[in-house]
Amino acid sequence: MTETNTHPAAGEATEQAGDGQAALARVIAIANDKGGVGKTSITANLAALYATAGYKVLALDLNRQANLSDDLGYRGSAIDDQGAGLLAAIMTGQPIRPVPVPGRPGLDVAPGGVHLGDLTGVMVGRVQQQGRGAFLALARALAPAVGPYDLVLADTPPENTLLVDLALGAARWLLMPTKSDGGGLVGMQLLAERFAIAREINPSLALLGVVLFATARGATAIHRSVRSDVETAFGVGSSPVLTAIIGHSERIAMDTRALGRVAHELESDAANQPSWWEVLRASKDTEEASASLARRIPPTASNVAEDYRRLAAEVLDLLAAAEGATA
Ligand SMILES: Nc1ncnc2c1ncn2[C@@H]1O[C@H](COP(=O)(O)OP(=O)(O)O)[C@@H](O)[C@H]1O
Ligand SMILES: [Mg+2]
Repeated sequence: MTETNTHPAAGEATEQAGDGQAALARVIAIANDKGGVGKTSITANLAALYATAGYKVLALDLNRQANLSDDLGYRGSAIDDQGAGLLAAIMTGQPIRPVPVPGRPGLDVAPGGVHLGDLTGVMVGRVQQQGRGAFLALARALAPAVGPYDLVLADTPPENTLLVDLALGAARWLLMPTKSDGGGLVGMQLLAERFAIAREINPSLALLGVVLFATARGATAIHRSVRSDVETAFGVGSSPVLTAIIGHSERIAMDTRALGRVAHELESDAANQPSWWEVLRASKDTEEASASLARRIPPTASNVAEDYRRLAAEVLDLLAAAEGATA
């Protein structure tokens, strides 16, 4: 994970950018019909990690709330068009024009935001005229734009059929995060139905895997029960539940969204901050000391960062294995 374009399959895909299917070979939609299962966190962390590792990455944000812009720290910046560019590309079929994220070399985004709400009316009309093929609109706008990228990650909203359907129409892979709090099966089944319908217009779509999010480490029973839920929803042998899980850490999650720094960046922030006794020594009084201590990045950043590194590596392994199998 240190050089760009080390992966023949990604290179091949970019050479054939004219051919929609081949060009979209490394597009991963991160989706689940349920909200709060880690779609945005996983997109942000993987995108930032891959870019740091030297890959050329594009992150698409198909959310009106655009939490990806919080997690990656570009909300309200000059590049944040609140989904206007993405909306225009989907509506006109012109290529998406990704923008580089300031301070994150190798990472480009197509920002999401309120403008994406305008798609609903347009798409309803198009589906009436063109049938389900209308959901290839994102694929058409994306295919000519993916040439430079090794990986494209699409963050999707919960329960917005339209934007999820557009993402599934454009992706080669579905990566589905889920929580282990029960209730996951319902979201999975809804997504499995949508997945089956999307395959009618995008036959190369496949389930890459399922990621357990905000879960206790080493919970074998949970892993087994999620495995059985996935098989109920998607069919036996449908896909792996990944070995990598994202451990629970409320505080890291809050810091990521508030500071626009993903887990591996918080990890280095934590390592570079003064030790707690230095903070105490430098404080005028106990009030100032406790305020400063409360602002510290907790050492658990390192655990979560390590979880995301494992996930990033496992996703690349799965892609390489799948590409090897079809080469
Ligand atoms: N490792 C974690 N442990 C616990 N909560 C987390 C973790 N990472 C993120 N969260 C929180 O979980 C919530 C849902 O995460 P998010 O990635 O936004 O999910 P989704 O995009 O599926 O709605 C957010 O409030 C986020 O702050
Ligand atoms: Mg989200």
